[in-house]
Amino acid sequence: MKIIIRDSAAEASAAVADMLLQQIGEKPDSVLGLPTGGTPLAVYARLRSAYDSGRGSYKSITTFNLDEYLGLSADDPASYAYYMRENLFVHVDIDPDRTHIPNGSAPDADAEAKRYEALITACGGIDLMLLGLGRNAHIGFNEPGSAHNSRTRRVALNASTIAANAAYFAPNAEQPAHAITMGIGTILECRRIVVLATGSEKAAAVAASVKGPSADIVPGSALIRHPNTTFVLDKAAARDLERARTSELQV
Ligand code: PGA
Repeated sequence: MKIIIRDSAAEASAAVADMLLQQIGEKPDSVLGLPTGGTPLAVYARLRSAYDSGRGSYKSITTFNLDEYLGLSADDPASYAYYMRENLFVHVDIDPDRTHIPNGSAPDADAEAKRYEALITACGGIDLMLLGLGRNAHIGFNEPGSAHNSRTRRVALNASTIAANAAYFAPNAEQPAHAITMGIGTILECRRIVVLATGSEKAAAVAASVKGPSADIVPGSALIRHPNTTFVLDKAAARDLERARTSELQV
């Protein structure tokens, strides 16, 4: 596991955007795994401005998002399908047919999860998976207690996750309590994983994920077992790492 610590969230986001640009530069038909949420917004903003200045082509890129709310259509402003279009896809030259997100309005969530998992395999697996980290150390919507060998499936969201995401919903809108998420086992099969976590509210989750022990109660701690994971943190998120004294270290 590699840990990169930058002074600010903006610098950490810039480092992650550079990693993505390097990946798609080196392998123009890369398969990327993408997250939503507040943390990656600055990464997507950097990718948009890089694209506007001629850096990065997405023509042959395939993407798989981590998760989607169950019960929201792709046109719902709170859906992750909508988020991805708004924040990245409509701004770059990506082929919409190659952008994959679990279908939150599928009539049979179990069948949809199986279809999604099979599609990832059919596309040759994911080259680089970008992850955020929940305050409770969830990855995707794999809440604490999710098995580290879990596959893409329907899940119930924790009350704390629902509360953390309430701000993304209009005041009177109904907030889904279920989602489809890539499983932790699915995530661990990605060839390279980059976790971006910023802000002091993520410090405890970062420390529990990085220091271990690897246990189901800490979804992020599954990443300890992955051979190519990089945590990119700002100083606030790295606060509880005793060994975070240098700007870059290997553990
Ligand atoms: P956030 O969510 O970026 O909105 O804090 C992170 C996550 O839940 O993975």
